[in-house]
Amino acid sequence: MEGVKPLLMIIDDDVNILKALEIIFKADYRLVPRKSGAEALKYFENIGFGLDGGEPAFPAMQNEGSSKKRAANTPDLILLDIMMAGLGGFEVCTRLKANPDLEKIPIIFITGKSEPEDITRGFEIGAVDYVTKPFNAAELKARVVTHLSLKNAREAIAAKNILLEQHQKELENRAEWLAGEVKKATMTINTLVENLPEGVVLLDVLKRVVLANPRGKDYLNLLCGIENGNIVKRIADREIDSFLYADSSRRQWQEVKIDKPALRYFKVAAELIGQGQDQKGAVLVMIDTTDEREILQRAQRQERLAAVGQLTAGISHDFSNILTVISGTARVCMGDESLSQEAHDKMVAITNQVGRGSRLIRQVLDFSRSSVAEKINLDLQPLLKEILKMTKYMITDKIKISFDQHRGEEFYVHADPNRFQQVVHNLVSNARDAMPEGGEITLKLSHFFPGKEGKAPFPDMRYGKWVTFSCSDTGAGISDDVLPRIFDPFFTTKDPDKGTGLGLAQVYGLVGQHEGFIDVKTRVGKGTTFIVYLPALDNDAAAGGRKI
Ligand SMILES: Nc1ncnc2c1ncn2[C@@H]1O[C@H](COP(=O)(O)OP(=O)(O)O)[C@@H](O)[C@H]1O
Ligand SMILES: [Mg+2]
Repeated sequence: MEGVKPLLMIIDDDVNILKALEIIFKADYRLVPRKSGAEALKYFENIGFGLDGGEPAFPAMQNEGSSKKRAANTPDLILLDIMMAGLGGFEVCTRLKANPDLEKIPIIFITGKSEPEDITRGFEIGAVDYVTKPFNAAELKARVVTHLSLKNAREAIAAKNILLEQHQKELENRAEWLAGEVKKATMTINTLVENLPEGVVLLDVLKRVVLANPRGKDYLNLLCGIENGNIVKRIADREIDSFLYADSSRRQWQEVKIDKPALRYFKVAAELIGQGQDQKGAVLVMIDTTDEREILQRAQRQERLAAVGQLTAGISHDFSNILTVISGTARVCMGDESLSQEAHDKMVAITNQVGRGSRLIRQVLDFSRSSVAEKINLDLQPLLKEILKMTKYMITDKIKISFDQHRGEEFYVHADPNRFQQVVHNLVSNARDAMPEGGEITLKLSHFFPGKEGKAPFPDMRYGKWVTFSCSDTGAGISDDVLPRIFDPFFTTKDPDKGTGLGLAQVYGLVGQHEGFIDVKTRVGKGTTFIVYLPALDNDAAAGGRKI
């Protein structure tokens, strides 16, 4: 309000003093002289301040125009007499101070009284100063000027404070918004990392685990035997440094394996964060490649066996024909009555051996899928019950054989029952041979849906319903060096009089001939399970099968 003189209210019931004060101040101030406390309070009520419990006397004046007018008419300072007829100075002061809008107006008491308790009381109820009569005009003026500039300074500070508060509020809002954004971004990243199929682990400079996603935690446990917060010293059987400082500028995957609790393979790569002095730690990425490896190995085995099959098919056919000629000729000779007993016996030996040869050739033909299968739609459960009766004669009494039956469930496939019996026969005899000290054989039928119940065990296995037949034993298991060759024709680990190495080759060929797959799970010393997958027939086809 530059240029406008400050408004000074003077309240004194002594007219002479009021006059004197007016003379002192009129040159530099706009004046509101009042002869009593009541008049002074009336003035405030008139310009719109409530003085009884803070309610304005004229609420109608509470609009913007009136509030401007009110501000213009509000005194900047009050000179207030204490001893007045009617409402005394202390009372007036107390009433004004009770209104928050008036509370800031500096009040200077002017009085003839100068008892110390009066001075103290004056300050207690909110006066800023105290002047006793008779007063010195120059001093009074100086005091008024001082208190006005103090008031202005206070107001300026208050205004600054409001600005500062606004600023702070803005900063707080911004900080809150930023925190929200950071939270959102963190949640997005978390969701991504939490759901990654790879294990991701963050290490600090000391190679301590700072962060790991759920897979990462599992793998740390399996590969390093440690948890969050621990230092990674090794991964499986390799020093951590061999991953962190692999001599290549590019990230390199390294393969590691563990054999407890089961044989599993992993690919591990490390990426350093920062270089040299600025190195801030590293990120480890771990991928379980066990399934991938198995699928690849099975695919390779399938390819290799298909090649061997092609090779053997041709020879076996020719050989089969030769054997037919030999046995035919032997039979003709045996029909010759002039043949000596000795020569006859030799012919019998020849036909026996040729019979053995034919059975071997039959197995090889089955392996190379060049035998003829007579497939029908059939439910494997009742068939397996029948086969089970016969397998009992193949085993010793130290071996228990059982078949987990499913009541009410059907296992329809399109298959040659004799060839299926051959498959069961071969698998059971191998299980028996693997348990010379006795044990248990368990046969099982179930359904399998690749994709729905886990990854397809073979890359070219179609989605849909499959029937699985499994044969488990509690025998010797198959070692790593033998396992890749078990389906090879003529591969055997048994004595020549016990094994021909054609059992599994035949099973392999027969399963293939039925558009199926065969898988094996084994642990040395614990046992082996062979699983045969055959395409299941849908209900309509199965119903058709039942009519046959
Ligand atoms: N259930 C089994 N437990 C342990 N080893 C097995 C089992 N089945 C097959 N094998 C291994 O696979 C080899 C090949 O089996 P197979 O083709 O039936 O020929 P054979 O029984 O005449 O040896 C066996 O010699 C044996 O080493
Ligand atoms: Mg065998």
